[in-house]
Amino acid sequence: MPITTCIFDAYGTLFDVNAAARAAAQEPGNETLARCWQQLAADWRAKQLEYTWLRALADTHDDFWKVTQDGLDWAMEKHGLKGDGLRARLMQLYAELSAYPEVQEMLKTLKNAGYKLAILSNGEPKMLQSAMDSAGISDLLDDCLSVENVGVYKPHARVYDMVGDRFGCDNDQVLFVSSNGWDAACATGYGFQTAWVNRMGLPVDRMPWTPKHILNDLKTIPELAKSL
Ligand code: LAC
Repeated sequence: MPITTCIFDAYGTLFDVNAAARAAAQEPGNETLARCWQQLAADWRAKQLEYTWLRALADTHDDFWKVTQDGLDWAMEKHGLKGDGLRARLMQLYAELSAYPEVQEMLKTLKNAGYKLAILSNGEPKMLQSAMDSAGISDLLDDCLSVENVGVYKPHARVYDMVGDRFGCDNDQVLFVSSNGWDAACATGYGFQTAWVNRMGLPVDRMPWTPKHILNDLKTIPELAKSL
């Protein structure tokens, strides 16, 4: 069935999760961070995601803002970075992450073509709203679906269920787009059409399912949606 609904992961897919550490590294007084910001950003992201999966498995839940702070605390300690000021600045920058350069244009093209558009994210609603506002994309989206509505993290099926519940579409009418290989793979298992945005040229995750389409960035999403 043709695609009616395009659903986007937020962090790493629309919003550049490395932007916070990159920007803070350029600020005066952050010379230690400047030497290790790439490793800090990678460890922060890895721990943030690990803590979502561990909470889901342990049947407990804290929102993504708290989990993001926990991941940052672990990564700062690992890299010998100290200071409440730096921690607060990095979290502030995380709340205002920039979008990848092609995001606005891609969403406009999809919106003009008549697709329903939404975010489906681990993010909690306030941090998602803040990131959408700073990226200037709030008006282009029909909705922003947060895991806080179901109290469990991706890739639990209850998260993907929110799409059909909200838009009344069948799974194969949904193009789900994520830069997280595991998210795109699990969404394939759920029944969505999927695109993995593999900006870093990573190997395909060894999961029971694989993403249906693999792209380098978001520019060709409108073309892909039309072709399905
Ligand atoms: C999200 C994380 C997985 O936005 O990037 O859901």
